[in-house]
Amino acid sequence: MTTNSPPSAALRAAAAAAPAATPRLPGRPAVSAKRGKLIAVASGKGGVGKTFFSITLTHALARRGQRALLFDGDLGLANIDIQLGLMPQYDLGSVISGKLSLNQAAMQYEPGGFDVIAGRSGSGTLANIPLSRLQIMGEDLALLASRYDRVILDLGAGVEKSVRQLARAADTIIVVTSDEPTSLTDAYAFIKVTCMERPQTDIRVVVNASNSTREGERTYQTLFKACQGFLKISPPLAGIIRRDARVRECIRHQTPILIRSPASEAAMDVEAIAERLLAT
Ligand SMILES: Nc1ncnc2c1ncn2[C@@H]1O[C@H](COP(=O)(O)OP(=O)(O)OP(=O)(O)O)[C@@H](O)[C@H]1O
Ligand SMILES: [Mg+2]
Repeated sequence: MTTNSPPSAALRAAAAAAPAATPRLPGRPAVSAKRGKLIAVASGKGGVGKTFFSITLTHALARRGQRALLFDGDLGLANIDIQLGLMPQYDLGSVISGKLSLNQAAMQYEPGGFDVIAGRSGSGTLANIPLSRLQIMGEDLALLASRYDRVILDLGAGVEKSVRQLARAADTIIVVTSDEPTSLTDAYAFIKVTCMERPQTDIRVVVNASNSTREGERTYQTLFKACQGFLKISPPLAGIIRRDARVRECIRHQTPILIRSPASEAAMDVEAIAERLLAT
């Protein structure tokens, strides 16, 4: 792909497909956070680095003095606790079953200086929660956000209703893609559905695991042109994170990259994204 090439055929096909709208569930008023305060991290395609990025961004924000909360919103395969090497006493399962409030489920992650609400990892799954319950959880999260400077919400992959419902809690959505065409197409599909449901959403793009900054920029340009051409929106680039063997190594050691390899390229790239986020 080059900077001047038209959007790929796959992106055209994705653009033509009509999304199924999710009506707003009745009963509770809309609660929304200030722009850039409650940030959801989404992708479309799985395995593009959402959880790594969510953890590292939260950590980088905390290192800049922000009171930060990291929320594991991957209802099917929650794994923030695994990437951080935590054994949480409480998780979202206790919140869903009514045993705890969202606030009570928040635990301090002392090495990083931020708080975490763990999802249900291991044997449990929260994938079948009714949308109405998810709506309430999203609203509670938006309320809890008033106690923090920033809340990062790590979403599950895909464009299903449950993912979109949780994403509604956020006013800013960072869509993560890699350089791969399938990931790009799925990122576009997510952006399309989101912007048809909520045209005012602040959507930004991160290209992760890019072979180079230049290639990342080309990837972003391809996505940007499709968004401009078909959706009439211009999502800005939040940043490019280079492919870096240290990421996998840190995940294997269940230690955040900003602790184990703070001078690595990927760590510095996320630090730069945090810096820009605070500047805007
Ligand atoms: N910048 C990077 N450089 C190299 N490898 C990376 C990078 N970012 C992520 N990875 C690799 O991608 C894998 C998946 O990352 P991660 O679990 O964060 O993705 P995800 O999008 O959250 O996945 P899922 O959709 O399953 O939740 C990691 O185990 C890591 O090895
Ligand atoms: Mg994940």
